[in-house]
Amino acid sequence: MGPMDRLARRQVGFNTTSRDSWDVFAEHRRRVSEELILGAEAGRSRLCVLGAGNANDLDLPVLLAAHGEVHLVDLDGQALAMGASRQGVTEDPRLRLHGGVDASAALSVLSSWHPLADLREEDFEALASWPASRLARVLPGGFDRVASTCMITQLMETAIHALGPAHRQLERAERALRAGHLRLMGRLAAPDGEATLITEVVASDTLPGLAECSPEAIGELIPGLRRTGNHFRALHPQQLLDAIRAEPSIMPSAATPPVSTPWLWRLHGHTYLVVGMRFRPRQR
Ligand SMILES: C[S@@+](CC[C@H](N)C(=O)[O-])C[C@H]1O[C@@H](n2cnc3c(N)ncnc32)[C@H](O)[C@@H]1O
Repeated sequence: MGPMDRLARRQVGFNTTSRDSWDVFAEHRRRVSEELILGAEAGRSRLCVLGAGNANDLDLPVLLAAHGEVHLVDLDGQALAMGASRQGVTEDPRLRLHGGVDASAALSVLSSWHPLADLREEDFEALASWPASRLARVLPGGFDRVASTCMITQLMETAIHALGPAHRQLERAERALRAGHLRLMGRLAAPDGEATLITEVVASDTLPGLAECSPEAIGELIPGLRRTGNHFRALHPQQLLDAIRAEPSIMPSAATPPVSTPWLWRLHGHTYLVVGMRFRPRQR
């Protein structure tokens, strides 16, 4: 990536506000790290995490003990370096930091958008295809596990910020961003590897009482959220499963349930319902 554009600088600003939230991330970190060591083989398997940022949601010593290599990818290289340093793993040669990498491959396109912009067919095509084709040249591939940790909501939020919430083509842009991210994860995975898209589904802002839900009650909320449309647009687990099935290059996981047990993440006075969607490259 060239000099950081305004949308990248905005993400860096967000990371600064959550940098010191290590303690409040404890339960979320435990659940995310648990997902990321599924199927790991110590000293052999390779993990790639997209949107690793401050790594507050990653127990790096646990991930390094479980895997042979751990690659962290983010726009914000400084957040990655400081996160690794806080966890005392900077010197571990099996930890690779890929800072300054735009996983959407299209922030420069999004930066030119505004509420009156007229998006063309080639813009949607770029959002859906550039991440896999361009990132494959920047990042090593063949990962046994590829994860994205609460980053897809940031991609969506960036599109909303750039176009404005009332833009008539916003939903189509969000679907194209989603396709791009899913294809990227599938592309980075080894043929027998697995991808896990970890995402917020709904926040306490629109679901008051979420913070008080028991672990058993959380799972039961999911179907109702779809019926009422109370979820982050395009990111309900059912919509994600449909989107995964619609992509010729990927398919839902068969080795593990395609949707993880959900959990809660609390940050800055909000509570989020979080889920991991597991999928894998489609064999040809
Ligand atoms: C909500 S944070 C995830 C939490 C983070 N793993 C942590 O523990 O701090 C989302 C991360 O995605 C990164 N991000 C957002 N858009 C990105 C993009 N286009 N390319 C790469 N990283 C991006 C942000 O910099 C941020 O670190």
